[in-house]
Amino acid sequence: MERIKALIADDDESILWVLEKFLQEKSIEVVKARDGIEARRLLHEPGLSIAIIDINMPGAGGLEVLKDAGESGSRAAIIIMTAEGTMKNTLEAMKLGAFDYATKPFDLGELEVMVDRAVEHVRMKTRLTNLSDRLKERLAGETVFVGKSKAVQDVFKTVGKVAHRDVTVLILGESGTGKELMARLIHMNSPMGEGPFVAVNSAAVPRELMESEIFGFEKGAFTGAVEGKKGKFELADGGTLLLDEIGDMNVDLQARLLRAIQEKEFYRVGGKEPVKVDARIIAATNQDLERAVHEKRFREDLLYRLNGVTLKLPPLRERKGDVPILAEYFLDRFAREFGGERKTLSEKAIEALENYRWPGNVRELENVLRRAVLLCPSLKLSLSDLNLPASRQQRDSLEEIISAKLKPFIERTDHRSKQELYSFMMPFMERPLIKLVLEKTRGNQVQAAEVLGINRNTLRKKMKDLNIKIMDIK
Ligand SMILES: Nc1ncnc2c1ncn2[C@@H]1O[C@H](COP(=O)(O)OP(=O)(O)OP(=O)(O)O)[C@@H](O)[C@H]1O
Ligand SMILES: [Mg+2]
Repeated sequence: MERIKALIADDDESILWVLEKFLQEKSIEVVKARDGIEARRLLHEPGLSIAIIDINMPGAGGLEVLKDAGESGSRAAIIIMTAEGTMKNTLEAMKLGAFDYATKPFDLGELEVMVDRAVEHVRMKTRLTNLSDRLKERLAGETVFVGKSKAVQDVFKTVGKVAHRDVTVLILGESGTGKELMARLIHMNSPMGEGPFVAVNSAAVPRELMESEIFGFEKGAFTGAVEGKKGKFELADGGTLLLDEIGDMNVDLQARLLRAIQEKEFYRVGGKEPVKVDARIIAATNQDLERAVHEKRFREDLLYRLNGVTLKLPPLRERKGDVPILAEYFLDRFAREFGGERKTLSEKAIEALENYRWPGNVRELENVLRRAVLLCPSLKLSLSDLNLPASRQQRDSLEEIISAKLKPFIERTDHRSKQELYSFMMPFMERPLIKLVLEKTRGNQVQAAEVLGINRNTLRKKMKDLNIKIMDIK
């Protein structure tokens, strides 16, 4: 069984001494703090599960440390020591999430019960979190990259060749094409697979913070740096670092990054000692890096260092065949995640999914289906349940096409003369519209009127006015 580690914090040496002896006898490892500031720092010691903290200390009192622990998400069970007769503090401590409180001078027997309970509590909690993590993993499904299209299969082949080798992989693709998912997959199939997978996103972190986000900082590196912090690079040691949206990274930082990747070591911000790391590097972006190099927004040497192997994830609209497969996959997954019966798609719905342009790629498909599964009470999802923005999209692009065709014509017309342009133009719109629909319904006027959404008699009149003859329809 792993060893329990406890923090004891008090400015009274004799109390520290008593507690240390007592805990050591129980085979508990001890770290000591003599003031609130140190206590705060030591609370973040890896593996710390118990803290016994005095309420009155220089620097910061026990309650402050407790509050801090709550805010920073410390997992340790904290026991607050109070002097007798301070009911108010005791209540406050419990409210702030203390595990228990001990009144000084304390009875070691009582303290023992308390510590045993705290140990048990932490063990249970860890077990529960592990369990729920595993459950979540199971529910979230295996990390699978779904796709049968040639483009995806080709990507798989390359991944198979490079995953186990220590080459830097650059993943290119529009937003939502699965770049991060692919990076995880490569990580899991690499020798570092058991190690951490850490992602840092250049588009999401403000420029000023990016440097310390990647490289970490030392205590006192800048105002507010009361304690040091590891950067993502360091956290990825023994695993994989995903440099997401690398195309958005500031050029100065790119130089530092390149050096760190090449030398496998770097300095924390404000640090004097180099930090060594061994991490696999994967970079991803939706930008055209060659162009970024051309525009001097991206360092050429960094690009060459990153693209040991380049994987291009094709947009979904270029692999329509993957749409139904992905849709089935998501329906399976959502049924597992949300419980309830697995939903299916109507034929029309599938067809619409295949024809939609998917500007947000797989992420958009996932979102459309999630929303439909959650909101639609019936088991079969129809086209309208999907709520696709397709009609608006098509309308927009249709308008663009027609405008483009109209423009040169309008430009040639004299804007000072009277021309009845409107009634001149309209038949040119209506004729192809009606003819095409009639072709599609193979001359069936009842159906055509329905598709057009106009009355049968109106259709007949229009056909007469526009001189459309049924026998001309193909
Ligand atoms: N081939 C796929 N199979 C299964 N799920 C996928 C696939 N591609 C993408 N996804 C899912 O789609 C969502 C978006 O994928 P991911 O975040 O990897 O895309 P991205 O390219 O990094 O997007 P962005 O550029 O917006 O960051 C995720 O929930 C991911 O699990
Ligand atoms: Mg991403």
